[in-house]
Formats: sequence, C-alpha cells, structure tokens
Amino acid sequence: MTILVTGGAGFIGGNFVLDWIAGCDEPVVNLDKLTYAGNLQTLASLQGHPRHTFVQGDIGDRALVERLLAQHQPRAVINFAAESHVDRSIHGPGDFIETNIVGTYKLLEAVRGYWSGLPDGGIRAQGRAPTESQSPTKDSFRFLHVSTDEVYGSLAPTDPAFAETNRYEPNSPYSASKAASDHLVRAWHHTYGLPVLTTNCSNNYGPYHFPEKLIPLMIVNALAGKHLPVYGDGMQIRDWLYVKDHCSAIRRVLEAGRLGETYNVGGWNEKPNIEIVKTVCALLDELRPKADGSSYAGQISYVTDRPGHDRRYAIDARKIERELGWKPAETFESGIRKTVQWYLDNPEWVANVQSGAYREWVSKQYAP
Ligand code: NAD
Ligand code: DAU
Repeated sequence: MTILVTGGAGFIGGNFVLDWIAGCDEPVVNLDKLTYAGNLQTLASLQGHPRHTFVQGDIGDRALVERLLAQHQPRAVINFAAESHVDRSIHGPGDFIETNIVGTYKLLEAVRGYWSGLPDGGIRAQGRAPTESQSPTKDSFRFLHVSTDEVYGSLAPTDPAFAETNRYEPNSPYSASKAASDHLVRAWHHTYGLPVLTTNCSNNYGPYHFPEKLIPLMIVNALAGKHLPVYGDGMQIRDWLYVKDHCSAIRRVLEAGRLGETYNVGGWNEKPNIEIVKTVCALLDELRPKADGSSYAGQISYVTDRPGHDRRYAIDARKIERELGWKPAETFESGIRKTVQWYLDNPEWVANVQSGAYREWVSKQYAP
C-alpha cells in the first residue's frame, strides 16, 4: 500500500513525510510544486530512499495527478499543499485562490475519478483502519484534507474555544480560501460519496518552519541582530501545537476518523504573541547568550498591525481526544525549547533559506 502526500516539501508536510517514513514501511509519493515555501533540503535525509518518490508538480495539474494515482494506486491522499501565509495573502491573494480553491477542486476531481474506478471492497464498519487488504478499495480509500482553525474567524476574550460546530467566519484572503476548500471537500463527500476527512488545526511550530512565520522569524532575526517585529500591541492570541503532534493527529484521523467528519486539532496552548517572542528571547539568552550579556528582548520592536488581524484563536480539541484518543506529546515548554535548539543546531538549513540558496538545492535524485 502507498499514500500520496501533496505539499510534502513544506513545513508540516515535510515533517509528516519524515515521520511517516521513519515510523512504518509504507511508501510515500510526494507531490509538491516547490513554491518559495517548498524546500527539498528538508527532505535531504530521504534522498534515494526506496520508499519516497518525489514529484515536482501542481495539485491543479489534473493530468499529472491522474497519472500518479493510476501509477501508484494509493490507499489515501493527504492534502497539505496550499499557500499558507496570511501576510502574503493580504498583499497578493491570487495564488491563494488558484492553489487553495481551484487547485483543491482539480485535485478532488482527479481523486474522484480514481476512487470511482476502485473495486468495491464489501461493506466495512465506518472508522475501521483502511489497512487490511493489499490494494485499495472504494471502502478503504481516504482523502484527508489538512485545514486550519482560521476558518472560524476571531474569538472575543471570553468566547469558548472553536468547536467543530462553530460557524465558518473567515477574515483574511488566506482563511477564506481555506474555508472554500473545506466546503468543496465536504460537498464532494455529500454529493459524490468521496470518503473524506478534514482536520482544522491551530498554529504549528517546530523544525523546518519557513522564517516568515512568527516563531522562526523571531529566532533567525534575533540571531542575526535584527529587529523582532511585533504587530500592533502584541496581545493577539494564538493556540500553539508542536508540528510532530499535528502529524500524529493526522495519522490518527487517517486511521480511525469517521468519514465526512471534521476534527479540530490543538494542544490547549493559548498565548499572546508578545509572550511567545519573550519566551524565544529567554531561551536564546540561555542557549546562545549574546557576547555583551544583553538580552535578545532588547531587539523587540512594535510595528504597524496586520490589516484585519484576528485577535484570538483557540481550539477545543475534545472531539479528537474523546473519539480517537489522540493527545499531544509535547507541552508548549518542551516543544518551544526543542524548536529553538533545532534552529541553533541547523545553521546550514537556516542560512540556505535566508540566502535563497535552498531554491537551487536540487540533488540528482530530486531533479525534475
Ligand atoms: P507551507 O507553506 O510551509 O508548505 C506548503 C507546501 O505546499 C510547499 O511545499 C509548497 O511548495 C506546496 N505547494 C503550494 N502550492 C502548491 C500546488 N499548487 N501544488 C503542489 N504543491 C504546492 O505550509 P504549511 O505550514 O506546511 O501548511 C501545510 C497545510 O497545513 C496547509 O494546507 C495549511 O493551510 C495547513 N495548516 C497550517 C498550519 C500552520 O500553522 N502552519 C496550521 C493549520 C493548518
Ligand atoms: O492558526 C493556524 C494558522 O497559523 C495557519 O493556518 C497558517 O497557515 C499559519 O501561517 C498561521 O497563521 P498566523 O497568521 O497565525 O501565523 P503567523 O506566524 O504569520 O503569525 C502569528 C501571529 O504573530 C499573528 O498574530 C501575527 C503575529 N506576527 C507575525 C509575524 C510574521 C507578528 O506579530 N510579527 C510577525 O513578524
């Protein structure tokens, strides 16, 4: 059996592919367009690996996706591919509409064609792991769509955390495009019976995170002696989850999630941005003290707020905990320490991202 992962050269998809290959014997076909956010250096340890096939391409290229599905006969497709950065969506929404909405639609259509040609596998209890037979059937196949908590909009300070039953109220071009993709996935299940699962996760952090996002940007800017730009008053709240815990949640939903259901994923770690930035500074003060003895916190600088900035996100993770028995392995304290240490231990990955050299880093095995 094989799985097809899209966006597997990005932050979460890359971590997912590395963990998957390390954790089981099942091959992965990894389809990624290699936008600015795709980084093959993240997958350097898999060069030449017999169970990892990398294909550079677009989820919106229906002929390519159809060919990959026919050739590899995956038992599941896991869709990480997306434009993911809110600030970029504000400055230029076009790519977000193209990949997150149109791309997801074309991917769904290619997958629907493949799935409808699979043999019937007899009736199985819903929620059973699709791993029993040696080739996929209509019953065992899964399409898992990876989405975000941002589709639910913004919470007031005393509002309860986002549950799966919350109304969709996306506020940025990014979250609106993800909300649209979630609706398409839902409709392909309701109308055509495609066996889908959707996860809506809170803010991830961890290794291989592109330094345009808050935590890695603060780490690399601090080390480079640059300003640490905090938007507005820095009191916006995000709910943080270590990326490996998001990956374990996706594996669990793939294994046992109920068809057509959505699962919110989070680690009950609400924190204001300024606290995150100060925590990163304190860890760097400890692990890589500055020569003059001053704190990295001295580099913090408050800057103009993000337009339409959502004030608070928080995930109610009780459904996935109760129904699927999933729990994160890391606390915020353990996860953020591992993350800062990872950036200190991987200066080459960081330097290549900062210089742009990672775009040219295509080994023989990965050459398109
Ligand atoms: P990322 O930007 O780091 O990676 C996205 C990957 O998708 C890149 O490798 C990129 O090259 C690829 N890609 C982009 N357009 C493509 C296309 N048209 N065809 C094929 N590949 C394409 O993003 P991420 O942070 O790893 O997020 C992955 C998924 O998880 C996204 O769907 C995102 O919405 C969702 N998500 C992210 C977070 C988070 O905190 N980062 C939280 C919840 C959900
Ligand atoms: O909630 C899940 C979402 O989390 C994902 O769906 C998105 O793909 C992911 O990018 C992330 O979105 P955010 O906008 O929350 O993440 P970002 O790291 O861009 O910003 C986190 C918070 O920090 C946000 O309130 C804006 C603020 N910020 C961000 C940057 C880059 C700053 O104050 N300064 C900065 O320089």
